Amino acid sequence: MTVPIATVERAEMLRKEIRYHNHLYHSLDQPEIPDIEYDRLMRELEQLEGTFPSLISLDSPTQRVGNAPIAGFCSVKHELPMLSLDNAFGTGELHEFHKRVIDRLGLDDKHILTYAAEPKLDGVAVSLLYKDGILVRGATRGDGTTGEDVTHNVRTIQAIPLRLIGEGYPSQLEVRGEVFMPADGFKEYNETARTMGEKMFVNPRNAAAGSLRQLDPRLTAERPLDMYAYSAGVIDGGDLPKSHSEIINLLRNWGIKVCPERKVVIGVEGCLEYFENIGRRRDTLGYEIDGVVYKVDNLDFQNKLGFISRAPRWSIAHKFPAQEELTKVVNVEFQVGRTGALTPVARLKPIFVGGVTVGSATLHNIDELHRKDVRVGDTVVVRRAGDVIPEVVRVILDRRPKDTLRIQLPIECPICGSDIVRVKNEAIARCIGSLACPSQRVEALKHFVSRRALNIEGLGSKLIEQLVASNGLKTAADIFLLEKAKLRSLDRMGKKSADNLIGSINNSKSTTFARLLYALGIREVGEATAKSLAIHYGALTNLQAATKEELQLVPDVGPIVATHIQAYFAEEENLLVIERLQKYGVHWLESDPVVTNIDGPFSGMTFAITGKLPTLTRDEAKNIIHDAGGRVVGSISNKTNYLLAGDKAGSKLVKAQNLDIAILDEGKLISLISK
Ligand code: IVH
Repeated sequence: MTVPIATVERAEMLRKEIRYHNHLYHSLDQPEIPDIEYDRLMRELEQLEGTFPSLISLDSPTQRVGNAPIAGFCSVKHELPMLSLDNAFGTGELHEFHKRVIDRLGLDDKHILTYAAEPKLDGVAVSLLYKDGILVRGATRGDGTTGEDVTHNVRTIQAIPLRLIGEGYPSQLEVRGEVFMPADGFKEYNETARTMGEKMFVNPRNAAAGSLRQLDPRLTAERPLDMYAYSAGVIDGGDLPKSHSEIINLLRNWGIKVCPERKVVIGVEGCLEYFENIGRRRDTLGYEIDGVVYKVDNLDFQNKLGFISRAPRWSIAHKFPAQEELTKVVNVEFQVGRTGALTPVARLKPIFVGGVTVGSATLHNIDELHRKDVRVGDTVVVRRAGDVIPEVVRVILDRRPKDTLRIQLPIECPICGSDIVRVKNEAIARCIGSLACPSQRVEALKHFVSRRALNIEGLGSKLIEQLVASNGLKTAADIFLLEKAKLRSLDRMGKKSADNLIGSINNSKSTTFARLLYALGIREVGEATAKSLAIHYGALTNLQAATKEELQLVPDVGPIVATHIQAYFAEEENLLVIERLQKYGVHWLESDPVVTNIDGPFSGMTFAITGKLPTLTRDEAKNIIHDAGGRVVGSISNKTNYLLAGDKAGSKLVKAQNLDIAILDEGKLISLISK
């Protein structure tokens, strides 16, 4: 069969591209494209070679699994190759797999076939060789045939026993499993790397791979690595049971760590139930998985089924929908938030990722945008994991069209045309238009009506946008002038909805001082600060009269928040809004201010509290400090004067010690105020 020239070229192009990505992934630990895209390239090449077998060349990436090991490590030839798994994306492909298994084994549909189901761990495959119960060699999988000797590194991983326990293990036992970095350890590691200005890892799998490939085992030892075994390889001088699940249980008895989530299930239905259950708990497992693996549990059946090229016929990886995908950037826009902050947003060619269709992704701020250098026309990796907002992970520079332009921070607000300013050393650029900017107005109104603020049900984003666009709403006070007739003229507003909305606007008039303060949207005044201010000052007039120094006596109010509060009340327009709110019936209960002891022994001092105190509750301790003129803050900084520490003190204690902050116990605190 002659192969069309375009197909020959396409196959060559795919090979080149796959080789390039193999190198990035296996040798450099720097993958550029998501796995799913790699799988697609591989599948396309496999299909072409399947249709035109003459296309297959010995060096085609389909003919081997990975890439050569990097220089610096000794090679290890695997006596039994370390295989990879075929993937099933979706229920249909799982049914097809099951049918193939049943047919090949000559079983009928009614046969109760059991599968060993396990999470598909997202780490690095390793082979651990035990001779007479002693760990003698650890190797990576490499290309499946030849891996790298990483004995010096695996010996540093606590989860891997240097000597087996119990008895009955074969004199030679090869254990295979996945080394991974647990989510907590990964987060902590990257956090430290960031503060130290060191290289951060893209994801836990890269972290595990990078850590195992260290030449210096002392570095590996510092990395929080873990391992679960998922099979036995070469066995000599002893027998193992006749099912996969029993082997895993034996490994566990010999002291090898195995995944606690493993389960024997029956048929496709059992597999699907397992898949859904693990999928639901995915975010709470504490380690990354990208699907689940089903293995025919019976080893006789496994042997009968055998292998095709690089994967066993008795196992399949059932993948979760990809959390990373590729798509194109159609545009980059700047959104203007409530405080005028500009957020660059990438408008994307819609793409199905992480189980939903995503049309835009945040780029956080201008520095992030420039660091990633996202441009219109770029092909980018988009990630959406769990309920997290979709984000652009990186640009595939390889696929950047010619003549793209670096995105610049706009000079004028794209919504109202006001100037954009960026305070030195701040990541955030802002539109100075304030409430004259329709975007800021919409966001401020959305905040005002939100659940934790005035809680006006039925006044959603779309309605606010319409009302602002038609000039029906300028400030929050105008909400209380809305009339039914005006509401009825809006899109999709029926009589019942209009009645309900008027009802909830009226209900919202009776509120609390704390809610009102939060609703006003003073910069840096969140819900907790609003509550503290409300308790401390009791009444609006007291708060307005407070000096910057006095404001800082309130818990969690520092100089910046104090400045924002003062600036807010210095604006004539803001005062007018509050006046009108009250005029239209918005009211709240006021109380007496908490008396602050400006001359107390702790005046001007800042405290933090950690751990469990022997006799006082947190609130009692706080009150004692307040009464003595001090302030209590939630976190430690170099401006904190004292840390009041009780039992089981956490990270605050370490931080305080590092910053040389005086540490008090309860007794010391009491003795200081009684002086
Ligand atoms: S069994 C012959 N079980 O997936 C079967 N593999 O795509 C060999 N993996 O190289 C693998 N979790 O690194 C198996 N529970 C699990 C696994 C698992 C993760 C990885 C492993 C392997 C790759 C195959």
